[in-house]
Amino acid sequence: MQKNFIMNNEKEIENVVDYIIKNISKRSVVLLKGGLGSGKTTFVKHFSSRFDINTVSSPSYNIIHIYNNKIVISHIDFYRLHTDAEIKELNFYENIEESDYTFIEWPGNIEKSLRHYKTACIEFDIVNNKHTAKVII
Ligand SMILES: Nc1ncnc2c1ncn2[C@@H]1O[C@H](COP(=O)(O)OP(=O)(O)O)[C@@H](O)[C@H]1O
Ligand SMILES: [Mg+2]
Repeated sequence: MQKNFIMNNEKEIENVVDYIIKNISKRSVVLLKGGLGSGKTTFVKHFSSRFDINTVSSPSYNIIHIYNNKIVISHIDFYRLHTDAEIKELNFYENIEESDYTFIEWPGNIEKSLRHYKTACIEFDIVNNKHTAKVII
């Protein structure tokens, strides 16, 4: 299933959050694709604020942020990460299993290791100066 959204303002971002909450089950892993500045981290901020998690920041430097409030959300950025050993050190798979939702920016090579999990994908882009999102479930 694939659905395209324009999400150029807060209300339009909230529409995509609604769609994700309605259409993916808990324990899902959501792959966030798209270039720098395409809106990946902003989307996770909006999603998380639905569950009164208002402290989301980019995980680029720490690789993984775990938020635990009404639910558990893991937010991961694999931009700088390469080896299996590094991934193992993060307790990556244990984390997925303990999270209600896992969001992964720059999933790259890890994607093929996720076939045992329920995954969804959001492709972010900027087209004619408008932020867009294609949700693939
Ligand atoms: N849907 C959107 N509509 C308008 N501006 C956005 C949207 N998403 C992100 N931005 C703006 O673009 C900038 C980069 O967004 P960010 O979410 O950090 O991108 P990414 O995580 O993909 O690198 C931020 O300043 C943010 O305010
Ligand atoms: Mg980001």
